[in-house]
Amino acid sequence: MSADGITVERLKVSQLGEVMPIERASYRTPWSVAMFVLELTRPETIGLGVRLDGRLAGYVICSPQADEWHVMNVTVGPADRRSGLARRLLVHLHDLLETATGGEARITLEVRPSNEPALTLYASEGYLVAGRRRAYYPDDGEDALVMWRTPGTRAGHFDDVPSPDLREAARWNTPLPDPLDQTTYVGEGTVDHQTLLEYFDPEPSDAAVGQPEEEEAESA
Ligand SMILES: CC(C)(COP(=O)(O)OP(=O)(O)OC[C@H]1O[C@@H](n2cnc3c(N)ncnc32)[C@H](O)[C@@H]1OP(=O)(O)O)[C@@H](O)C(=O)NCCC(=O)NCCS
Repeated sequence: MSADGITVERLKVSQLGEVMPIERASYRTPWSVAMFVLELTRPETIGLGVRLDGRLAGYVICSPQADEWHVMNVTVGPADRRSGLARRLLVHLHDLLETATGGEARITLEVRPSNEPALTLYASEGYLVAGRRRAYYPDDGEDALVMWRTPGTRAGHFDDVPSPDLREAARWNTPLPDPLDQTTYVGEGTVDHQTLLEYFDPEPSDAAVGQPEEEEAESA
């Protein structure tokens, strides 16, 4: 555990008893247990949990799709927000992905235009808005903004983003990043080889917990 009592660890199915209260307190349409089990038992999925003084306070789940990574869920429990925990999770995730891809990770996610905390967080961690999906969220029909963090967006352009909507980009990303601002991936989130092996090699899944539930759910 670091001096501030914060640790980042791999999220496991066996921890869903701690995850679900956070998830249910955070979304109108939370992920079901079944959805977490489905994602966390895919060997290629990266699930990270953040603990504060030993207690699970938040998590991120990210899955590969074709040659890109999709951040599917980023959540911190209401009582623990604004303590830097989501940033800690994203920094750790980015370190893993950039190490695994030699600094070429292409990462995408969806976010509600009304979700200022999340938008601000993602923008501050190198994501740019590159498009919009109309009526994306089934519970209320709100659009989703599509954000990307790629070698291109980190250099201030959208050349490696599929079908970018440059009008949305101009509307939301002010200003575009300085192309000379090179993000580094060292520091507290630096990962060792063993950690990478653990994340990227298939391993037996944990025993599933709880009863799968049938619910529509919201993604990150
Ligand atoms: C979005 C969320 C994950 C942020 O978690 P968090 O641990 O509170 O975020 P952090 O403390 O790491 O904040 C990092 C940065 O995000 C931004 N941010 C976070 N909360 C914010 C808020 N309420 N208002 C404005 N900016 C905010 C700030 O830039 C902040 O940096 P700063 O504290 O140095 O100013 C959390 O609010 C959450 O779980 N919300 C509900 C679920 C959700 O909407 N998830 C995202 C779905 S796309």
